[in-house]
Amino acid sequence: MSDGQSVLEAGDGFAGDRRTTGGLGAISGPQDPMSQRVTEANRIYFDAIVDRYEADPRQRYGLFGTNARRRYREFVDAHLDDIRRGIVVNVACGTGNMMDIDAELGLSSVGFDIAPKMVELAQRYSPRLFVGDFYGMPFRSGSVSFAAGLGLLHHVYDHVTFFRELYRVLMPGGWFYADYDPNYHAVARLDRHRLLGPVWRAYERWSDKVRDLDNRVTPEIFALADYYAVSEPGLKGELVERTIRQAGFHQFRVIPHSDGPSLDRPRRGRLPHKVLETMLWASGEREYPRRAKNLALIARKGTP
Ligand SMILES: C[S@@+](CC[C@H](N)C(=O)[O-])C[C@H]1O[C@@H](n2cnc3c(N)ncnc32)[C@H](O)[C@@H]1O
Repeated sequence: MSDGQSVLEAGDGFAGDRRTTGGLGAISGPQDPMSQRVTEANRIYFDAIVDRYEADPRQRYGLFGTNARRRYREFVDAHLDDIRRGIVVNVACGTGNMMDIDAELGLSSVGFDIAPKMVELAQRYSPRLFVGDFYGMPFRSGSVSFAAGLGLLHHVYDHVTFFRELYRVLMPGGWFYADYDPNYHAVARLDRHRLLGPVWRAYERWSDKVRDLDNRVTPEIFALADYYAVSEPGLKGELVERTIRQAGFHQFRVIPHSDGPSLDRPRRGRLPHKVLETMLWASGEREYPRRAKNLALIARKGTP
């Protein structure tokens, strides 16, 4: 693990003046106090549960599941020519999920995260890692051809500031791929559902137990870290669309989906997701974008 300056060669697009070191005091970019609290809670939370992170069923069957990996590979494979033009970044890389796929496809991606212990584990997949904050990425403007953010958007408190920073670092024609964030419309409805609610909460308790959550962090830290998965207004397609547009992106697609193998057929999902979605339909939620449990986002910075 290392800080931003040493992992990237001179001329590689790294802008030394924007370096971050991961502590709250080092966070760069415009930050309101609540945003800082959420970032700091993320650092504390993920460092505290690092040894349990990948065993947690929410990750094991979700972000680390076969279909999430298929979708990622399909996207990267289809855009390889564009992606090879500049720096490839895994934003909030955690323990390095998907960076092995980058390597298999011949890309030497750079990863960073606010939680140093997560970054330490990611060294299994890449030596190009650093501790850093996504509100102030240490890359030169227009140097990044591809940024991936898996399970990222519900941890971003201030989406406009984040998307502005993303827009800055992306080169014209550069891509952003985000996947596996919870769709708050579906999650909130699921929680209130007469039959699904208790099952959902039992699943969450199992997940909490695997992470040994009660002994690792306070409920306040967890609620702040998992902010848009658990607190109003929650992560919703409308929020993502509004904030990414505000940041200057014109080409983007928010894709509600059911964890299937391809984002081209978002409704073809995994069985548990289809069951859940069908029950939400039966309970009166007729709009697919509101009952699909996951959100993905594909965005491209326009060419001049
Ligand atoms: C749900 S985890 C996803 C990790 C990884 N992308 C994966 O697929 O497993 C969210 C990650 O966001 C990171 N994170 C939260 N706030 C951050 C910030 N301000 N800057 C960088 N990383 C941050 C957390 O430390 C955590 O590793």
